[in-house]
Amino acid sequence: MASPSLLPLRLLLLLLLLLPLSQATTFLITNNCSHPIWPGSMPYGGGLHLPPSQNWTFTTNTTSSTFGTIWARTNCSFDSSGTGTCLSGDCSGALNCTSNPSSPATVVEYSLYQWGNNDFYGITLVNGFNLPVAVTPTGPANCSAVTCTDNLTQECPSELKSAGGCKSACDVFKTDEYCCNKVGSCSPTKYSRFFKSLCPNACSYPMDDPTSTFTCTSGGDFTVTFCP
Ligand SMILES: *[C@@H]1O[C@H](CO)[C@@H](O)[C@H](O)[C@H]1NC(C)=O
Ligand SMILES: *[C@@H]1O[C@H](CO)[C@@H](O)[C@H](O)[C@H]1NC(C)=O
Ligand SMILES: *[C@@H]1O[C@H](CO)[C@@H](O)[C@H](O)[C@H]1NC(C)=O
Ligand SMILES: *[C@@H]1O[C@H](CO)[C@@H](O)[C@H](O)[C@H]1NC(C)=O
Ligand SMILES: *[C@@H]1O[C@H](CO)[C@@H](O)[C@H](O)[C@H]1NC(C)=O
Ligand SMILES: *[C@@H]1O[C@H](CO)[C@@H](O)[C@H](O)[C@H]1NC(C)=O
Ligand SMILES: *[C@@H]1O[C@H](CO)[C@@H](O)[C@H](O)[C@H]1NC(C)=O
Repeated sequence: MASPSLLPLRLLLLLLLLLPLSQATTFLITNNCSHPIWPGSMPYGGGLHLPPSQNWTFTTNTTSSTFGTIWARTNCSFDSSGTGTCLSGDCSGALNCTSNPSSPATVVEYSLYQWGNNDFYGITLVNGFNLPVAVTPTGPANCSAVTCTDNLTQECPSELKSAGGCKSACDVFKTDEYCCNKVGSCSPTKYSRFFKSLCPNACSYPMDDPTSTFTCTSGGDFTVTFCP
């Protein structure tokens, strides 16, 4: 039988064993496209050329509240100093992104370690669409994958068509209606309905979050597959 004086020590050991369970989150980015991509990520850069079937992983720096985005750039060319351009998803010409992408880009969003120990994740088409993507939680919890697998570039209304993808109506027309600039008076438009009809799990306009935010207990990892 354990002597009572050992209990505090045991408790300490138990706590030390439990602490590593709260861990940083790893994102595995897979290029399942038939062409190279250049992943972009805020705030984790993404400074590399990713050939088909290759992976890139990054791990967040923190186990407290953190936010970020992930997307793919296409048809890039960079010089030896890491400056260049991409057909879609460009981040101000930098190989290792320090800003969010220009339109069009399918963007994965995450907020980790939120209230109640929850991770929130989703796909947004608010910046348009360049590539299909799937986000799959890979932790112990049983959480849903979110996917946008349709090739919206193919079906894009001609007025939104753009090199490398399909722009959002906000980017093309820049009106308050399409950009949801007036708080409290934002509703779906024919363009957001087009995005929603092909990718029902993705966010199609700024106030569309309730149908497109997925939740998972914090502590798991994620796989992000382009061209699933
Ligand atoms: C993560 O931490 C490393 C090492 O401290 C640092 O170099 C890097 O800039 C940090 N990255 C972000 C996105 O905070
Ligand atoms: C890109 O920038 C991030 C954040 O500053 C840094 O942690 C990372 O090492 C950089 N990656 C490359 C390939 O330079
Ligand atoms: C990429 O990651 C997947 C999933 O973990 C793995 O099955 C595959 O072998 C990895 N591919 C490479 C080239 O490392
Ligand atoms: C972009 O890259 C793809 C795949 O490599 C290629 O088929 C396509 O012609 C390129 N598009 C442009 C405009 O360069
Ligand atoms: C995981 O969730 C799905 C969908 O809610 C459900 O069908 C399945 O039975 C669950 N699996 C486990 C192991 O809980
Ligand atoms: C999507 O459609 C565009 C336009 O038809 C095409 O160029 C592109 O290769 C397609 N992408 C995929 C992943 O099928
Ligand atoms: C990769 O793409 C192929 C079709 O090109 C598909 O059959 C496969 O399921 C995809 N893999 C993943 C992990 O999404």
